[in-house]
Amino acid sequence: MNSTDIQLDIEKVETSRIDQVDFSNLQFGKQYADHMMYCDYIDGEWQTPKIVPYGPMEFEPSAKVFHYGQAVFEGMKAFKDDDGQIWLFRPEQNFERINKSSKRMAIPEFPKEHFFASLQALLKLDQDWVKKGQGNSLYIRPFVIATENGVSASESDRYRFMIIGCPAQAYYNKPIKVIFAQDYSRAADGGVGFAKAAGNYGAQFYPTKLAKEKGLDQIIWTDASSHEYLEEAGTMNIFFRIGDKLLTAPTNDRILDGVTRKSIIQLAKDNDVEVIVDKVSVKYIVEAARKGELKEIFGAGTAATVVRVEGFEYDGEYFDLPAIDKPYGTFFKSSLQDIQYNRVEDPHGWTV
Ligand code: COI
Repeated sequence: MNSTDIQLDIEKVETSRIDQVDFSNLQFGKQYADHMMYCDYIDGEWQTPKIVPYGPMEFEPSAKVFHYGQAVFEGMKAFKDDDGQIWLFRPEQNFERINKSSKRMAIPEFPKEHFFASLQALLKLDQDWVKKGQGNSLYIRPFVIATENGVSASESDRYRFMIIGCPAQAYYNKPIKVIFAQDYSRAADGGVGFAKAAGNYGAQFYPTKLAKEKGLDQIIWTDASSHEYLEEAGTMNIFFRIGDKLLTAPTNDRILDGVTRKSIIQLAKDNDVEVIVDKVSVKYIVEAARKGELKEIFGAGTAATVVRVEGFEYDGEYFDLPAIDKPYGTFFKSSLQDIQYNRVEDPHGWTV
């Protein structure tokens, strides 16, 4: 079945809220576009997706999501080109990943046709919320929550799949400082680290709060068993540049298979930059920093795009990473954005 054959129930807003939004001064995730989609899973079937005005929803206090965190989400972006056409970046990847995350959390997979038909309808209705111009996008947040009432600790038999969208500019508006994790862990072997499970993110808030109290912005998580290998930053994957080579950790059951990460690896190959996808030892990075061989660290994620790390703390010591000439981070960010805003040919067919 084609996504255009899917029936959707659509209730449009009477009056758009768009005029109340200052698009030159957006705070990430604070303003939402006029419409949202929801689709319930009842009696073993996903029902007709509904598009309704964005607003509060009612759930009983015993809904399982509130007790057991049975919830997953995605992050994707829509961009508007100079001709006013809207483009999604690799949306199939997000669709596949939300179902992969769902599977791990015992949530039924969502049908592809429902997903794409809903996205298309939402973007058509809320097209004015996608602004033209470098850095502007509509950040799209699909998510699924367990809605069965009852606090028995077992998977829900009801779910709600939803899509909401918020106009966005940069997630980080300046380079960040990070700390390499030595005490807390983000994900364990055999756990849910690879999934965009809600709890993966909530569990980072406390250690990140401690890092922020020290003047740092983010944590680069290390493997839970030895804390010897750098894995991901929680809101993004992470790249290290040693000399002219890029280094990033391989994905596994602890690390998110980031769409921006894999796009950068491809762009690096396209541009003859050697990328080593291998375990990144803390010791190696610290020594490279001491010897002046560590040229850059940058994070890569949908919300963050590409963000420079200007320094890191490890074992009580702070290592400064001064800005360099022609950084890879800036190059890959602009190469990616050129494709996302349809300014150049899209050799890999990433935009839709
Ligand atoms: C994204 O980049 O889309 C993410 O999901 C990170 C998020 C926690 C802001």
